[in-house]
Amino acid sequence: MTDEKLYGKTADGVMTLAGHDVRELLREHGSPLVVMLEQVIRDNCRAYREAMARRYPRSRVYYASKAFLTTGFCRLIEQEGLGLDVVSEGELATALSAGFDPEMILMHGNAKTEDDLTLALRSGVGRIVIDNLDEIGRLARLTEELDVRARVLIRVTPGVKPNTHQYVQTGQVDSKFGFNLEGGGAEQAVVRVKQVPRFELAGLHCHIGSQIFALKPYAIAARTMMGFYARVQRELGVPISELNLGGGLGIRYAPDDCPPAVDEHINAMTAAVIAAAEEHGVEPPLLLDEPGRSIVGRAGVTLYTIQSTKRIPGVRNYASVDGGMTDNPRYALYEARHHMLVASRLDQPADTLWSISGRCCESGDMLIHDVTLPEITEGDVLAVLSTGAYTHSMASNYNRVGRPAVVLAAPGRVGLLAARETAQELLRLDRIPAWLERGAAEED
Ligand code: LLP
Repeated sequence: MTDEKLYGKTADGVMTLAGHDVRELLREHGSPLVVMLEQVIRDNCRAYREAMARRYPRSRVYYASKAFLTTGFCRLIEQEGLGLDVVSEGELATALSAGFDPEMILMHGNAKTEDDLTLALRSGVGRIVIDNLDEIGRLARLTEELDVRARVLIRVTPGVKPNTHQYVQTGQVDSKFGFNLEGGGAEQAVVRVKQVPRFELAGLHCHIGSQIFALKPYAIAARTMMGFYARVQRELGVPISELNLGGGLGIRYAPDDCPPAVDEHINAMTAAVIAAAEEHGVEPPLLLDEPGRSIVGRAGVTLYTIQSTKRIPGVRNYASVDGGMTDNPRYALYEARHHMLVASRLDQPADTLWSISGRCCESGDMLIHDVTLPEITEGDVLAVLSTGAYTHSMASNYNRVGRPAVVLAAPGRVGLLAARETAQELLRLDRIPAWLERGAAEED
Protein backbone atom coordinates (compact mmCIF):
# COMPACT_ATOMS: atom_id res chain seq x y z
CA MET A 1 0.00 0.00 0.00
CA THR A 2 1.41 3.40 -0.95
CA ASP A 3 1.52 6.18 1.62
CA GLU A 4 -1.15 8.11 -0.33
CA LYS A 5 -3.67 5.37 0.38
CA LEU A 6 -3.23 5.79 4.12
CA TYR A 7 -4.71 9.26 4.28
CA GLY A 8 -7.12 11.64 2.55
CA LYS A 9 -7.38 15.39 2.16
CA THR A 10 -9.94 18.11 2.88
CA ALA A 11 -10.85 20.73 0.29
CA ASP A 12 -8.34 23.12 1.90
CA GLY A 13 -5.47 20.62 1.67
CA VAL A 14 -5.47 19.28 5.23
CA MET A 15 -4.84 15.60 5.95
CA THR A 16 -7.68 13.32 6.95
CA LEU A 17 -7.21 9.92 8.58
CA ALA A 18 -10.02 7.40 8.05
CA GLY A 19 -12.04 10.44 6.98
CA HIS A 20 -11.32 12.50 10.12
CA ASP A 21 -9.74 15.94 9.79
CA VAL A 22 -6.44 15.83 11.71
CA ARG A 23 -7.11 19.29 13.19
CA GLU A 24 -10.29 17.97 14.79
CA LEU A 25 -8.55 14.85 16.08
CA LEU A 26 -5.94 17.05 17.76
CA ARG A 27 -8.56 19.40 19.19
CA GLU A 28 -10.42 16.46 20.67
CA HIS A 29 -7.50 14.39 21.99
CA GLY A 30 -4.61 16.81 22.39
CA SER A 31 -1.27 17.03 20.62
CA PRO A 32 0.78 14.97 19.95
CA LEU A 33 -1.56 12.14 19.09
CA VAL A 34 -1.07 8.63 17.74
CA VAL A 35 -3.80 7.60 15.32
CA MET A 36 -4.13 3.88 14.60
CA LEU A 37 -6.04 3.05 11.43
CA GLU A 38 -8.29 0.12 12.30
CA GLN A 39 -8.75 -1.10 8.76
CA VAL A 40 -5.01 -1.30 8.09
CA ILE A 41 -4.53 -3.46 11.18
CA ARG A 42 -7.44 -5.74 10.27
CA ASP A 43 -6.19 -6.05 6.67
CA ASN A 44 -2.72 -7.03 7.88
CA CYS A 45 -4.12 -9.64 10.27
CA ARG A 46 -6.24 -11.02 7.46
CA ALA A 47 -3.23 -11.12 5.10
CA TYR A 48 -1.38 -13.37 7.57
CA ARG A 49 -4.42 -15.52 8.30
CA GLU A 50 -5.28 -16.04 4.64
CA ALA A 51 -1.71 -16.63 3.46
CA MET A 52 -1.24 -19.26 6.16
CA ALA A 53 -4.62 -20.86 5.43
CA ARG A 54 -3.67 -21.13 1.74
CA ARG A 55 -0.10 -22.35 2.12
CA TYR A 56 0.14 -23.99 5.50
CA PRO A 57 -3.11 -24.57 7.39
CA ARG A 58 -1.38 -26.29 10.34
CA SER A 59 -0.22 -22.96 11.68
CA ARG A 60 -0.86 -20.24 14.22
CA VAL A 61 -0.02 -16.54 14.07
CA TYR A 62 0.82 -14.76 17.31
CA TYR A 63 0.91 -10.97 17.29
CA ALA A 64 4.17 -9.77 18.94
CA SER A 65 2.69 -7.41 21.49
CA LYS A 66 5.97 -5.58 22.16
CA ALA A 67 5.26 -3.65 18.95
CA PHE A 68 2.16 -2.02 20.46
CA LEU A 69 -0.15 -3.15 23.22
CA THR A 70 -3.08 -1.84 25.17
CA THR A 71 -6.02 -3.66 26.72
CA GLY A 72 -8.43 -2.58 24.00
CA PHE A 73 -5.94 -3.54 21.33
CA CYS A 74 -5.93 -7.12 22.69
CA ARG A 75 -9.65 -7.25 21.87
CA LEU A 76 -8.98 -6.36 18.27
CA ILE A 77 -6.28 -9.03 18.00
CA GLU A 78 -8.64 -11.55 19.60
CA GLN A 79 -11.38 -10.65 17.10
CA GLU A 80 -8.90 -11.22 14.29
CA GLY A 81 -8.17 -14.71 15.61
CA LEU A 82 -4.47 -14.21 16.31
CA GLY A 83 -2.59 -15.31 19.42
CA LEU A 84 -0.38 -13.00 21.51
CA ASP A 85 3.35 -13.10 22.15
CA VAL A 86 4.27 -11.42 25.46
CA VAL A 87 7.64 -10.88 27.14
CA SER A 88 6.85 -9.58 30.57
CA GLU A 89 4.45 -9.69 33.46
CA GLY A 90 3.15 -6.31 32.27
CA GLU A 91 2.35 -7.44 28.74
CA LEU A 92 0.82 -10.65 30.08
CA ALA A 93 -1.28 -8.80 32.68
CA THR A 94 -2.54 -6.50 29.92
CA ALA A 95 -3.65 -9.48 27.83
CA LEU A 96 -5.25 -11.23 30.80
CA SER A 97 -7.10 -8.12 31.88
CA ALA A 98 -8.54 -7.93 28.38
CA GLY A 99 -9.82 -11.48 28.87
CA PHE A 100 -7.47 -12.93 26.24
CA ASP A 101 -7.50 -16.73 26.16
CA PRO A 102 -4.28 -17.80 27.98
CA GLU A 103 -3.93 -20.83 25.76
CA MET A 104 -3.40 -18.43 22.84
CA ILE A 105 -0.57 -16.63 24.67
CA LEU A 106 3.11 -17.43 24.33
CA MET A 107 5.79 -15.99 26.60
CA HIS A 108 9.31 -14.97 25.57
CA GLY A 109 12.27 -13.28 27.17
CA ASN A 110 15.99 -13.76 27.80
CA ALA A 111 15.68 -12.63 31.42
CA LYS A 112 12.23 -13.68 32.52
CA THR A 113 11.89 -12.94 36.19
CA GLU A 114 10.25 -15.06 38.81
CA ASP A 115 7.23 -12.70 38.63
CA ASP A 116 6.99 -13.10 34.85
CA LEU A 117 7.14 -16.88 35.05
CA THR A 118 4.84 -17.16 38.05
CA LEU A 119 2.08 -15.20 36.34
CA ALA A 120 2.62 -17.22 33.14
CA LEU A 121 2.27 -20.52 35.01
CA ARG A 122 -0.59 -19.40 37.23
CA SER A 123 -2.61 -18.07 34.32
CA GLY A 124 -1.91 -21.16 32.21
CA VAL A 125 -0.31 -19.57 29.15
CA GLY A 126 -0.19 -21.98 26.24
CA ARG A 127 3.56 -21.87 25.65
CA ILE A 128 6.73 -20.60 27.29
CA VAL A 129 9.81 -20.17 25.11
CA ILE A 130 12.83 -21.14 27.17
CA ASP A 131 15.83 -18.97 26.41
CA ASN A 132 18.71 -20.17 28.61
CA LEU A 133 19.91 -22.80 31.09
CA ASP A 134 19.22 -20.68 34.16
CA GLU A 135 15.62 -20.37 33.09
CA ILE A 136 15.25 -24.15 32.81
CA GLY A 137 16.14 -24.50 36.49
CA ARG A 138 13.99 -21.57 37.58
CA LEU A 139 10.96 -22.68 35.60
CA ALA A 140 11.33 -26.31 36.74
CA ARG A 141 11.35 -25.19 40.39
CA LEU A 142 8.32 -22.95 39.89
CA THR A 143 6.31 -25.71 38.23
CA GLU A 144 6.97 -27.85 41.34
CA GLU A 145 6.06 -25.08 43.75
CA LEU A 146 2.87 -24.21 41.89
CA ASP A 147 2.07 -27.83 41.06
CA VAL A 148 1.54 -27.15 37.35
CA ARG A 149 2.94 -28.34 34.02
CA ALA A 150 4.46 -26.17 31.30
CA ARG A 151 4.41 -26.57 27.55
CA VAL A 152 7.73 -25.18 26.36
CA LEU A 153 9.64 -24.38 23.19
CA ILE A 154 13.40 -23.97 23.11
CA ARG A 155 14.77 -20.76 21.59
CA VAL A 156 17.54 -21.61 19.19
CA THR A 157 20.00 -19.12 17.70
CA PRO A 158 20.51 -20.52 14.24
CA GLY A 159 23.49 -18.40 13.19
CA VAL A 160 21.62 -16.47 10.50
CA LYS A 161 22.53 -12.83 10.04
CA PRO A 162 19.97 -10.86 8.04
CA ASN A 163 20.76 -7.47 6.60
CA THR A 164 19.07 -5.16 9.10
CA HIS A 165 20.19 -2.70 11.80
CA GLN A 166 22.55 -4.47 14.21
CA TYR A 167 20.37 -3.55 17.20
CA VAL A 168 17.49 -5.55 15.72
CA GLN A 169 19.46 -8.59 14.55
CA THR A 170 18.94 -11.52 16.87
CA GLY A 171 19.69 -14.77 15.07
CA GLN A 172 23.46 -14.40 14.66
CA VAL A 173 25.93 -16.40 16.75
CA ASP A 174 26.92 -13.39 18.88
CA SER A 175 23.50 -12.79 20.42
CA LYS A 176 22.20 -12.49 23.96
CA PHE A 177 19.19 -14.57 22.97
CA GLY A 178 18.68 -18.30 22.95
CA PHE A 179 20.80 -21.44 22.71
CA ASN A 180 23.35 -21.46 19.93
CA LEU A 181 23.19 -24.30 17.47
CA GLU A 182 26.89 -23.95 16.91
CA GLY A 183 28.82 -25.46 19.80
CA GLY A 184 25.99 -27.73 20.95
CA GLY A 185 24.16 -25.34 23.30
CA ALA A 186 20.79 -26.07 21.75
CA GLU A 187 21.32 -29.81 21.97
CA GLN A 188 22.30 -29.54 25.62
CA ALA A 189 19.09 -27.55 26.25
CA VAL A 190 16.95 -30.29 24.73
CA VAL A 191 18.62 -32.90 26.96
CA ARG A 192 18.08 -30.77 30.07
CA VAL A 193 14.46 -29.91 29.24
CA LYS A 194 13.70 -33.57 28.60
CA GLN A 195 14.77 -34.41 32.15
CA VAL A 196 12.13 -32.15 33.73
CA PRO A 197 9.00 -34.26 34.29
CA ARG A 198 6.67 -31.27 34.42
CA PHE A 199 7.81 -29.92 31.06
CA GLU A 200 6.27 -30.88 27.76
CA LEU A 201 8.78 -29.98 25.05
CA ALA A 202 6.54 -28.97 22.15
CA GLY A 203 9.14 -27.64 19.75
CA LEU A 204 11.70 -25.06 18.72
CA HIS A 205 11.74 -21.33 18.20
CA CYS A 206 13.99 -18.89 16.40
CA HIS A 207 13.83 -15.19 15.63
CA ILE A 208 16.42 -13.88 13.20
CA GLY A 209 15.69 -10.18 13.52
CA SER A 210 13.30 -7.42 12.67
CA GLN A 211 12.57 -5.07 9.73
CA ILE A 212 13.81 -7.75 7.30
CA PHE A 213 13.15 -7.23 3.59
CA ALA A 214 14.86 -10.29 2.13
CA LEU A 215 13.14 -13.63 1.75
CA LYS A 216 16.30 -15.69 1.77
CA PRO A 217 17.29 -15.44 5.46
CA TYR A 218 13.93 -17.02 6.34
CA ALA A 219 14.52 -19.87 3.93
CA ILE A 220 17.98 -20.41 5.43
CA ALA A 221 16.63 -20.21 8.99
CA ALA A 222 13.78 -22.61 8.15
CA ARG A 223 16.19 -25.09 6.61
CA THR A 224 18.65 -24.88 9.47
CA MET A 225 15.93 -25.18 12.09
CA MET A 226 14.29 -28.14 10.34
CA GLY A 227 17.64 -29.92 10.26
CA PHE A 228 17.88 -29.58 14.04
CA TYR A 229 14.16 -30.37 14.45
CA ALA A 230 14.65 -33.70 12.69
CA ARG A 231 17.71 -34.45 14.81
CA VAL A 232 15.80 -33.75 18.04
CA GLN A 233 13.14 -36.22 16.96
CA ARG A 234 15.48 -38.94 15.72
CA GLU A 235 18.71 -38.72 17.67
CA LEU A 236 17.51 -37.16 20.91
CA GLY A 237 14.25 -39.11 20.84
CA VAL A 238 11.91 -36.21 21.66
CA PRO A 239 8.62 -36.19 19.72
CA ILE A 240 8.50 -32.43 19.11
CA SER A 241 5.90 -31.11 16.72
CA GLU A 242 6.14 -27.30 16.59
CA LEU A 243 8.41 -24.76 14.93
CA ASN A 244 8.16 -21.01 15.54
CA LEU A 245 9.97 -18.84 12.99
CA GLY A 246 9.61 -15.63 14.95
CA GLY A 247 8.15 -12.85 12.75
CA GLY A 248 10.40 -9.99 11.65
CA LEU A 249 8.97 -9.02 8.26
CA GLY A 250 9.87 -5.42 7.38
CA ILE A 251 7.55 -2.58 6.40
CA ARG A 252 7.75 0.56 4.29
CA TYR A 253 9.03 3.57 6.23
CA ALA A 254 10.41 5.60 3.34
CA PRO A 255 8.44 5.98 0.09
CA ASP A 256 11.02 3.98 -1.84
CA ASP A 257 11.14 1.05 0.62
CA CYS A 258 9.90 -2.12 -1.05
CA PRO A 259 9.34 -4.86 1.51
CA PRO A 260 7.82 -8.15 0.33
CA ALA A 261 4.07 -8.54 0.75
CA VAL A 262 2.91 -10.75 3.64
CA ASP A 263 1.85 -13.32 1.10
CA GLU A 264 5.29 -13.50 -0.59
CA HIS A 265 6.97 -13.73 2.80
CA ILE A 266 4.70 -16.56 3.96
CA ASN A 267 5.09 -18.38 0.65
CA ALA A 268 8.87 -18.31 0.86
CA MET A 269 8.92 -19.34 4.50
CA THR A 270 6.39 -22.16 4.25
CA ALA A 271 7.90 -23.51 1.03
CA ALA A 272 11.26 -23.76 2.80
CA VAL A 273 9.73 -25.55 5.80
CA ILE A 274 7.84 -28.02 3.60
CA ALA A 275 10.91 -28.73 1.46
CA ALA A 276 13.13 -29.21 4.50
CA ALA A 277 10.59 -31.52 6.18
CA GLU A 278 10.57 -33.64 3.05
CA GLU A 279 14.34 -33.61 2.79
CA HIS A 280 14.67 -34.82 6.40
CA GLY A 281 11.78 -37.27 6.15
CA VAL A 282 9.75 -35.74 9.00
CA GLU A 283 6.13 -34.58 9.21
CA PRO A 284 5.84 -30.81 8.62
CA PRO A 285 5.53 -29.20 12.06
CA LEU A 286 2.75 -27.03 13.44
CA LEU A 287 4.16 -23.73 12.19
CA LEU A 288 4.04 -20.68 14.44
CA ASP A 289 4.88 -17.13 13.45
CA GLU A 290 4.95 -13.97 15.55
CA PRO A 291 4.87 -10.76 13.51
CA GLY A 292 4.61 -7.42 15.27
CA ARG A 293 5.72 -4.56 13.04
CA SER A 294 4.03 -5.88 9.89
CA ILE A 295 0.69 -6.00 11.74
CA VAL A 296 0.68 -2.52 13.29
CA GLY A 297 3.55 -0.45 11.90
CA ARG A 298 1.86 1.03 8.85
CA ALA A 299 -1.38 1.58 10.74
CA GLY A 300 0.04 4.32 12.98
CA VAL A 301 0.34 8.02 12.19
CA THR A 302 1.70 10.40 14.82
CA LEU A 303 0.43 13.97 14.66
CA TYR A 304 2.49 16.78 16.19
CA THR A 305 1.99 20.51 16.40
CA ILE A 306 4.94 22.69 15.41
CA GLN A 307 5.98 24.82 18.38
CA SER A 308 8.82 26.82 16.89
CA THR A 309 11.19 27.15 13.97
CA LYS A 310 14.80 28.28 13.87
CA ARG A 311 16.70 29.09 10.68
CA ILE A 312 20.47 29.16 10.77
CA PRO A 313 21.40 30.63 7.37
CA GLY A 314 23.66 28.34 5.41
CA VAL A 315 23.54 25.70 8.13
CA ARG A 316 20.12 24.23 8.92
CA ASN A 317 16.42 24.90 9.44
CA TYR A 318 14.97 23.40 12.60
CA ALA A 319 11.26 22.89 13.23
CA SER A 320 10.49 21.74 16.76
CA VAL A 321 7.48 19.63 17.64
CA ASP A 322 5.63 19.04 20.92
CA GLY A 323 6.96 15.47 21.19
CA GLY A 324 10.00 13.63 19.83
CA MET A 325 12.22 10.92 21.27
CA THR A 326 9.86 10.51 24.21
CA ASP A 327 7.04 9.22 21.99
CA ASN A 328 9.22 7.91 19.15
CA PRO A 329 12.84 7.06 20.02
CA ARG A 330 13.45 5.18 16.75
CA TYR A 331 15.48 7.90 15.01
CA ALA A 332 17.58 8.59 18.10
CA LEU A 333 18.21 4.86 18.57
CA TYR A 334 18.48 3.47 15.05
CA GLU A 335 18.50 6.52 12.76
CA ALA A 336 15.20 5.12 11.49
CA ARG A 337 13.75 7.54 8.92
CA HIS A 338 9.96 7.75 8.94
CA HIS A 339 8.22 9.45 6.06
CA MET A 340 6.66 12.73 7.18
CA LEU A 341 4.31 15.33 5.77
CA VAL A 342 3.11 18.75 6.80
CA ALA A 343 -0.48 17.63 7.32
CA SER A 344 -1.81 21.17 7.40
CA ARG A 345 -0.32 22.01 3.98
CA LEU A 346 -0.63 18.93 1.81
CA ASP A 347 -1.14 21.01 -1.34
CA GLN A 348 1.94 23.17 -0.90
CA PRO A 349 5.14 22.31 -2.72
CA ALA A 350 7.90 20.65 -0.73
CA ASP A 351 10.79 23.02 -1.39
CA THR A 352 12.62 23.60 1.89
CA LEU A 353 15.12 21.45 3.73
CA TRP A 354 14.07 20.91 7.33
CA SER A 355 15.32 19.02 10.33
CA ILE A 356 12.59 18.10 12.80
CA SER A 357 13.57 18.36 16.43
CA GLY A 358 11.86 17.07 19.54
CA ARG A 359 11.14 19.02 22.68
CA CYS A 360 13.61 17.42 25.08
CA CYS A 361 16.68 19.14 26.43
CA GLU A 362 18.98 16.92 24.46
CA SER A 363 20.53 17.66 21.07
CA GLY A 364 20.01 14.03 20.09
CA ASP A 365 16.25 14.45 20.42
CA MET A 366 15.58 14.62 16.69
CA LEU A 367 12.87 12.97 14.58
CA ILE A 368 14.82 13.38 11.35
CA HIS A 369 17.57 15.42 9.69
CA ASP A 370 17.36 16.99 6.24
CA VAL A 371 13.96 16.25 4.82
CA THR A 372 12.31 18.31 2.10
CA LEU A 373 8.97 19.72 3.22
CA PRO A 374 6.85 22.80 2.46
CA GLU A 375 7.14 26.02 4.42
CA ILE A 376 6.50 25.35 8.13
CA THR A 377 5.35 27.82 10.76
CA GLU A 378 4.25 27.62 14.38
CA GLY A 379 0.91 25.82 14.67
CA ASP A 380 1.35 23.64 11.58
CA VAL A 381 0.55 19.95 11.97
CA LEU A 382 3.28 17.45 11.18
CA ALA A 383 2.26 13.86 10.39
CA VAL A 384 4.85 11.12 10.84
CA LEU A 385 3.83 7.92 9.07
CA SER A 386 4.32 4.24 9.96
CA THR A 387 4.55 4.85 13.70
CA GLY A 388 2.25 2.03 14.82
CA ALA A 389 5.08 -0.27 15.89
CA TYR A 390 7.74 0.33 18.54
CA THR A 391 6.94 3.97 19.25
CA HIS A 392 4.24 4.12 21.92
CA SER A 393 5.54 0.84 23.37
CA MET A 394 9.05 2.32 23.64
CA ALA A 395 7.96 5.75 24.84
CA SER A 396 9.59 7.32 27.88
CA ASN A 397 8.86 10.16 30.25
CA TYR A 398 12.20 11.93 29.83
CA ASN A 399 11.87 15.56 30.94
CA ARG A 400 8.62 14.37 32.52
CA VAL A 401 6.86 14.59 29.20
CA GLY A 402 3.62 12.57 29.20
CA ARG A 403 2.84 9.94 26.58
CA PRO A 404 0.38 11.00 23.87
CA ALA A 405 -3.10 9.56 23.60
CA VAL A 406 -3.64 6.74 21.10
CA VAL A 407 -6.91 6.52 19.20
CA LEU A 408 -8.30 3.81 16.98
CA ALA A 409 -9.85 5.42 13.92
CA ALA A 410 -12.24 4.06 11.33
CA PRO A 411 -14.67 5.90 9.05
CA GLY A 412 -17.37 7.43 11.25
CA ARG A 413 -15.81 6.48 14.59
CA VAL A 414 -12.80 7.21 16.77
CA GLY A 415 -12.15 5.47 20.10
CA LEU A 416 -9.43 5.84 22.69
CA LEU A 417 -6.93 2.98 23.04
CA ALA A 418 -4.78 4.91 25.52
CA ALA A 419 -5.55 8.19 27.22
CA ARG A 420 -3.09 11.04 27.19
CA GLU A 421 -0.72 10.93 30.15
CA THR A 422 -1.17 14.11 32.13
CA ALA A 423 1.27 15.83 34.47
CA GLN A 424 -0.86 14.61 37.38
CA GLU A 425 -0.46 11.02 36.23
CA LEU A 426 3.27 11.44 36.02
CA LEU A 427 3.24 12.19 39.74
CA ARG A 428 1.30 9.12 40.77
CA LEU A 429 4.30 6.93 41.59
CA ASP A 430 6.28 9.62 43.37
CA ARG A 431 6.70 9.29 47.11
CA ILE A 432 8.17 11.71 49.62
CA PRO A 433 10.38 10.10 52.31
CA ALA A 434 8.99 10.94 55.73
CA TRP A 435 11.96 13.06 56.72
CA LEU A 436 11.48 15.27 53.69
CA GLU A 437 7.82 15.99 54.39
CA ARG A 438 7.17 19.64 55.04
CA GLY A 439 7.14 20.24 58.77
CA ALA A 440 8.98 16.94 59.56
CA ALA A 441 11.07 17.34 62.69
CA GLU A 442 14.75 17.98 61.96
CA GLU A 443 16.79 15.10 63.34
CA ASP A 444 20.39 15.32 64.47
N1 LLP B 1 9.52 -12.46 18.21
C1 LLP B 1 10.58 -12.11 18.94
C2 LLP B 1 11.22 -13.09 19.80
C3 LLP B 1 11.08 -10.80 18.87
O1 LLP B 1 12.15 -10.47 19.58
C4 LLP B 1 10.45 -9.86 18.03
C5 LLP B 1 10.93 -8.50 17.95
C6 LLP B 1 9.32 -10.27 17.29
C7 LLP B 1 8.90 -11.58 17.41
C8 LLP B 1 8.57 -9.36 16.37
O2 LLP B 1 9.36 -8.86 15.34
P1 LLP B 1 8.68 -7.91 14.24
O3 LLP B 1 7.73 -8.76 13.44
O4 LLP B 1 7.98 -6.83 14.96
O5 LLP B 1 9.83 -7.42 13.45
N2 LLP B 1 12.48 -1.67 18.61
C9 LLP B 1 12.92 -2.09 17.31
C10 LLP B 1 12.42 -3.46 16.97
C11 LLP B 1 12.83 -4.51 17.97
C12 LLP B 1 12.29 -5.87 17.63
C13 LLP B 1 12.42 -6.77 18.80
N3 LLP B 1 11.93 -8.08 18.62
C14 LLP B 1 12.46 -1.06 16.27
O6 LLP B 1 11.89 -0.03 16.66
O7 LLP B 1 12.70 -1.23 15.09
